[in-house]
Amino acid sequence: MTQDELKQAVAQAAADYVAANAPAGSIIGVGTGSTANFFIDALAPLKDRYRGAVASSEATRRRLEGHGFPVLDLNDVEHIPVYVDGADEIDAGLNMIKGGGGALTREKIVAAVAGTFVCIADGSKLVDTMGKFPLPVEVIPMACAHVARELTKLGGTPVLRAGFVTDNGNLILDVKGLAITDPKGLEARINQIVGVVTNGLFAVRPADVLLLGTAEGVRRIG
Ligand code: A5P
Repeated sequence: MTQDELKQAVAQAAADYVAANAPAGSIIGVGTGSTANFFIDALAPLKDRYRGAVASSEATRRRLEGHGFPVLDLNDVEHIPVYVDGADEIDAGLNMIKGGGGALTREKIVAAVAGTFVCIADGSKLVDTMGKFPLPVEVIPMACAHVARELTKLGGTPVLRAGFVTDNGNLILDVKGLAITDPKGLEARINQIVGVVTNGLFAVRPADVLLLGTAEGVRRIG
């Protein structure tokens, strides 16, 4: 199977999970990235079952609306039973690195509101220890140099993502070389640096369920 076929298989499994676990008339949280795009396509045929969706990025909002899916402002929503999103890396504890697409802050906000976070990923994303994928950190533009110096003190090598501005008007530092032995502690530590909006470690609020695409089929963890 190609990587895209694995992503399509987990996207369909996630649409089935949502149909079984999110009540009719509820609002679905939708993530960002190529795997999430397949999920949107798999969810679209059932769109009349749901009241609408909350999008974790402008790109996701556009794709949902392209399918005729109503997209709601999170401030108008009290409860999101299920949030479905991809990951750049995920470990056995369902801690993740996210933000390869730069949508980490809105993803973390929607995840915070969601009852159940379902991560969808092809098998290549499951790792023993996270950190091979550079950790994205969203930064207020005027603080970029300061934050980069602080991240260097933590042992990382921050690289400004060239020509990229987030949906929130901020910059991304991709940090290589961090030893992520304590994901929750490192997530909290980096978020304390003044000028950081948030970082791409999702360990304080990890996924609840992982749907992993493998050659043998979709494996469910959690
Ligand atoms: C977007 O900012 C990311 O968090 C994505 O969820 C992550 O990069 C996974 O993307 P793919 O599904 O394209 O690999």
